[in-house]
Amino acid sequence: MKKILITGGAGFIGSHVVRLFVNKYPDYHIYNLDKLTYAGNLENLKDIEDAPNYTFIKGDIVDEKFINELFAKNEFDAVIHLAAESHVDRSITNPMEFIYTNVVGTVNLLNAARFVWKDDFSDKLFYHVSTDEVYGSLDEGGFFLETTPYDPQSPYSASKASSDHFVRAYHNTYGIPVVITNCSNNYGPNQFPEKLIPLFINNILNKKPLPVYGKGENVRDWLYVVDHARAIDVVFHKGKTGETYNIGGFNEWKNIDLIKVLCKTVDEKLGNPPGTSETLITYVKDRAGHDLRYAIDATKIMNELGWKPSLQFEEGISKTVDWYLENKEWLDNVTSGAYQDYYEKQYRTR
Ligand code: NAD
Ligand code: TYD
Repeated sequence: MKKILITGGAGFIGSHVVRLFVNKYPDYHIYNLDKLTYAGNLENLKDIEDAPNYTFIKGDIVDEKFINELFAKNEFDAVIHLAAESHVDRSITNPMEFIYTNVVGTVNLLNAARFVWKDDFSDKLFYHVSTDEVYGSLDEGGFFLETTPYDPQSPYSASKASSDHFVRAYHNTYGIPVVITNCSNNYGPNQFPEKLIPLFINNILNKKPLPVYGKGENVRDWLYVVDHARAIDVVFHKGKTGETYNIGGFNEWKNIDLIKVLCKTVDEKLGNPPGTSETLITYVKDRAGHDLRYAIDATKIMNELGWKPSLQFEEGISKTVDWYLENKEWLDNVTSGAYQDYYEKQYRTR
């Protein structure tokens, strides 16, 4: 039985990856290692928690001794590494946490894998999940290619870029078989309501202002989270060692246009008169160093590995809003306590 370690599996994307692998591959044993920070939530995995091929391990990837012992004990065949601090705004207020988890944590995992695999890399893989934000910010034209030079602009993207470099360096120096994917913005069920889409759904439900940074003209390229998990499955099984694949849905939206679609979708589902939620839109102080535009060219993974997104954006947004409406308790649970504090600090001066 193949032993696969998935880090950050209690988070947004990680939980969808864990679910897919546990259900689709009964002959793999999936170990989900997660520190359960504010963003990690075992509620996300209730449906598979008793599966015979699934084990949850609570732990911190920054803890070198713990990680080395875990690898020595379990001798994993592969790692799919998603654990990270993932929110740009938090990286602006507290960059060190991002350096510890995203950089030091990644290198701890690489060292432990190298040690336990003892230079016998047959059938081994270290899969590093990264972001398109490492490429920096685009103007109106062009796309990020796998060959686009790194130009990270936020503490978050700088920490992810650094971790990508270490993964490539360990491949080049020690021969560890690695693969890296850089994906665009994800949306869908289970996303913590600090990121744009779930934050705005939560605020609409609570009739709170919708804080649009700057003029709302920044552009993001959105992919439904299950399609990202499907891409990770494809790259894990068919990707070429040492390669990088960009993942995205060719689905660019100006923030303000996306927000209007979101408002309309929620209004329709709640039976509100048209335009109700749009009245909550409030333009606030821009994010420091706000990247103007991200846009992924996903031709390589489409042509070489045959992956493509399964959902159109309107369908994805509709499913996402349905999920949050049907899981009000999940939202209420994750927004109690520390969340209130975060929200107050993040938006008070805007
Ligand atoms: P998330 O913040 O929802 O989840 C991160 C998970 O990692 C949480 O469960 C958290 O508890 C865990 N974690 C954090 N620090 C840890 C530590 N020190 N040790 C062990 N576990 C720890 O993040 P997400 O949005 O699901 O992103 C997952 C990965 O995908 C990240 O590496 C992120 O950079 C990347 N990514 C995210 C997006 C996106 O749009 N969300 C897009 C592209 C790439
Ligand atoms: P976010 O979901 O934080 O993802 P990222 O910054 O990693 O792309 O933000 C998406 C876009 O929405 C980004 O341009 C910033 C903007 N935004 C707002 O306008 N208001 C908000 O309250 C948040 C969280 C984001």
